[in-house]
Amino acid sequence: MPLKAPEAYELDRSESPAMDHSHDEDSDVSDVDEFDPLRSSGRPYTDDASQPIRSVFDSEKNGSFSKQPLAWLDTQRKRGWLQRWLIPSRFCCVLILLFVATLVLLLSAGGIWVYKAAVPDDGESEPWYPTPRGGTVESWKDAYKKAADLVGQMTLVEKVNITSGIGWSMGMCVGNTGPVDRLGFPSLCLQDGPLGLRFVDNATAWPAGITVGATWNKELMYERGKGHGFEAKKKGINVILGPSMGPIGRLPAGGRNWEGFGSDPTLQGIAAAQTIKGIQDTGVMATAKHYVGNEQEHFRQSWEWGTPNAISSNIDDRAMHEIYAWPFADSVRAGVASVMCSYNQLNNSYACQNSKLMNGILKDEMGFQGFVQSDWLAQRSGVASALAGLDMTMPGDGLKWADGNSLWGAELTKAVLNTSVPMERLNDMVTRVVAAWYQLGQDDKDEWPAVADRGGPNFSSWTDDKEGELHPGSPNSKETGVVNKYVPVRKTDESGDHDALARKIATEGIVLVKNSDSMLPLNRTGKGVVYKAGTEKIKVGIFGEDAFPNPNGNNACEDRGCNVGTLAMGWGSGAVELPYLVSSWETLKANFVEDRYEVTQWRYNDDHEGAASMASEQRTCIVFINSDAGEGFLSWDGIKGDRNDLHPQKNGDALVKNVAEHCENTIVVVHTVGPTILEEWIEVPAVKAVMIAHLPGQESGNAIADVLFGDVNPSGRLPYTIAKKEEDYGPSSGILFYPNGIVPQQNFSEGLYIDYRYFDKHDIEPRYEFGYGLSYVDFKLNSLVVNTRGSIGELPKGRPKGLKPPKMDDSLPSPESALWPEGMRKLKKYIYPYIDSTSDIKKGAYPYPRGYGRAHELSPAGGGEGGNPDLFETAVVVQASLTNLGDIPAACVVQVYISYPSNVTDTDGEPVDMPVKVLRAFEKYYFDEPKRVPVKLELTRRDLSYWDVKRQNWVIPQGEFTLHLGFSSRDLPMQSTFSTLLGLNLRGNQDGAR
Ligand code: BGC
Repeated sequence: MPLKAPEAYELDRSESPAMDHSHDEDSDVSDVDEFDPLRSSGRPYTDDASQPIRSVFDSEKNGSFSKQPLAWLDTQRKRGWLQRWLIPSRFCCVLILLFVATLVLLLSAGGIWVYKAAVPDDGESEPWYPTPRGGTVESWKDAYKKAADLVGQMTLVEKVNITSGIGWSMGMCVGNTGPVDRLGFPSLCLQDGPLGLRFVDNATAWPAGITVGATWNKELMYERGKGHGFEAKKKGINVILGPSMGPIGRLPAGGRNWEGFGSDPTLQGIAAAQTIKGIQDTGVMATAKHYVGNEQEHFRQSWEWGTPNAISSNIDDRAMHEIYAWPFADSVRAGVASVMCSYNQLNNSYACQNSKLMNGILKDEMGFQGFVQSDWLAQRSGVASALAGLDMTMPGDGLKWADGNSLWGAELTKAVLNTSVPMERLNDMVTRVVAAWYQLGQDDKDEWPAVADRGGPNFSSWTDDKEGELHPGSPNSKETGVVNKYVPVRKTDESGDHDALARKIATEGIVLVKNSDSMLPLNRTGKGVVYKAGTEKIKVGIFGEDAFPNPNGNNACEDRGCNVGTLAMGWGSGAVELPYLVSSWETLKANFVEDRYEVTQWRYNDDHEGAASMASEQRTCIVFINSDAGEGFLSWDGIKGDRNDLHPQKNGDALVKNVAEHCENTIVVVHTVGPTILEEWIEVPAVKAVMIAHLPGQESGNAIADVLFGDVNPSGRLPYTIAKKEEDYGPSSGILFYPNGIVPQQNFSEGLYIDYRYFDKHDIEPRYEFGYGLSYVDFKLNSLVVNTRGSIGELPKGRPKGLKPPKMDDSLPSPESALWPEGMRKLKKYIYPYIDSTSDIKKGAYPYPRGYGRAHELSPAGGGEGGNPDLFETAVVVQASLTNLGDIPAACVVQVYISYPSNVTDTDGEPVDMPVKVLRAFEKYYFDEPKRVPVKLELTRRDLSYWDVKRQNWVIPQGEFTLHLGFSSRDLPMQSTFSTLLGLNLRGNQDGAR
């Protein structure tokens, strides 16, 4: 059957009969829907985005926001049952039962009193209204002009269509918006990201974000983004759901840390910006996610973990700016087209309806011009989310997975018609999406052909077969067509060899942390290697399941949700189908020259005797261990997304100890999602070398061989700290495994002190510090010169005025214009923008959220993409020279940290706490010849500033800064000072070697 004509997507959306709201599976909670305050239809708006609790079961019948626990829902469901039992003889038993049940439920959910006790005084979110409109910066001017023209021609339902996903698995991609065919605006295909293209055939399985972070290589960050974008475009994907920079890695066991680039805002920000530039240079929109505070998987979203509400990440204003929002600012500055708001609550208001977060910090302060999309079902309210700055709901369904009962779609149409969402807001929502589309050049029909001209997605997320259903999520659509065209994308003349690029990144993402007696590199020809007495060949043993492929196939587990065989990536939506996977066993076996080496394998982690006896016969033993984690919707072996501990999994520690006890040259390779405790064996003398190989993607074994044999000199650096024990990360660094309230509360009480900042502050010796990594050569830095540029005053220049957003027609059309077109065939569960009847529209004086009535003043920190442009002006130039002391090619990451002046006080004379030092810049230098290269790095005004919560601006403390230049957060051989008070340019010490 031919591929369904492109218009078919639109026909399905616009020709179907009225949406069926009777959801069979929900019938027992239908009375809940009746007074669900989160929908605006026909009723006044009542949700306050700034209220502490937004239970979906809040009753507005009595005008209050009662916080009902699960027990309430159960009571509703069991009403009939209760009536039958409410007879005097059993009344007593029923009461006791009820009491016990309530107690159990309250205890298991933590109890409301715990919530009360746990919410910090300043843990609530400030209201920030109205949403700043897009179109205020010069670089988006043309895109906004075109967008305003196009949106100006759209009807109300067409506009709504663009803001709302059509429902889970209603189109080919994980997210699909409604098109406006009449005006040539397509259905947008949104696809994960960030490691590669999820559910897509033959695309590259790139190294994960954490591996990319470990390269500290800006060029590779960009190139990976570009490769990712290119493949997306060829597959017909408009928007990639990546890169990820939240979680940032506050909790070392956080299940999704590996999707991002490491536990520091500067590293995350630079890597994210480079990735975004790479993706968007191909014309594909990137998405900066997850905004913000989604630092653990447990309780990340409503109901997934049994609690009616998602966790609240309670983050103070300063930490929000200096840690969590920082990489998002860099992403906005890089021109990112979209930002995804996260599942969790932020200061007790859902991130996707938190006006301070979206309207205030993102759209005002950071000057974000693109559109905010919700994470999948992270939208928890209709009107409140629109007013708070959400622009697109994904995948379009409502409060439950694939329910087809959208909070927007027709509900948004009603909300606009009944004036609870101003037309101006809807116009801005749509214009932001359409402007992003123009900004990326997706209106170019040669580059982005319409579906009618064989454009659009050419793969299906839901089947690998050539033919498949066009709307598999709909129970009453059986339409099929060619859905997979298997377009090759990994190796093309246009974009080059992505397999080779993936290998380079995986190789550079390996961090060599131990190499005693110069154990590495190994010589593959065996030259110069002393034979073990009595043997004819050099014996090498490869140990551990992680050296071998998954015997059930590389993609055997859904979304890679198991740890079987070698670990190439974590699990969840950020994982992809591996087109192939090179295991270490394969490459090592092939690399050791056969006449000289005898390579044997032990592919189990558990059998101690067998491993020991094989180890005792080897000259060299290479042991592979790992540690896995992933997204919370999948769990494996008791790991529900977040890791239960930081040790190697599957008996890894025991395997290493066992082998090392019997083999004097043991090399350990750790494939891991993040920090892994190595203490049980790291100091064992027989453990000569340790490589932290992170998550390499498809090229795993090749990357290992490159470093092991010295074809590539290792240059990866840790993007996080490896502690000696878990507690060393601090008392607030653990996962909250059990709910401490109906809204689980997590206070980010450590403030700025995550990862190395915490170790520095409390003077804790890590095993391997942030930024650490060895090479096969040594390097030396010298001749440090630090120059300040101009005078460095406390505050940035005044906020620039910016452009006026385009003028739009904000008048309301007649409700009749939004009715279902006659004779339309409707798909069940599909999200449409049409209303059933004009009587659904009741205009009235609706209550708006707290703070809505008064326009918030604009931030002095805003005025450009990423923030006030003055923040990004160069303030300090650092120069030095770097020498490769070895005689082989090498690469070295030079890192710049700053320490703020001591005794900083604010305008009231109150002390301002400052971290011991913070990373602010880095660069990787390559050596073939010559052996000495000049080093040049620049710091901006923002790099020297702290976020002053009183002045609500970035402030440079006046006094003497110390600048540290070196090779890791604890190996900083060169220092210099400069004063912002005097504008002095000082020279530092002259030499620094490692
Ligand atoms: C994840 C997002 C992802 C989305 C779509 C969600 O569960 O949190 O990162 O983009 O699903 O797959």
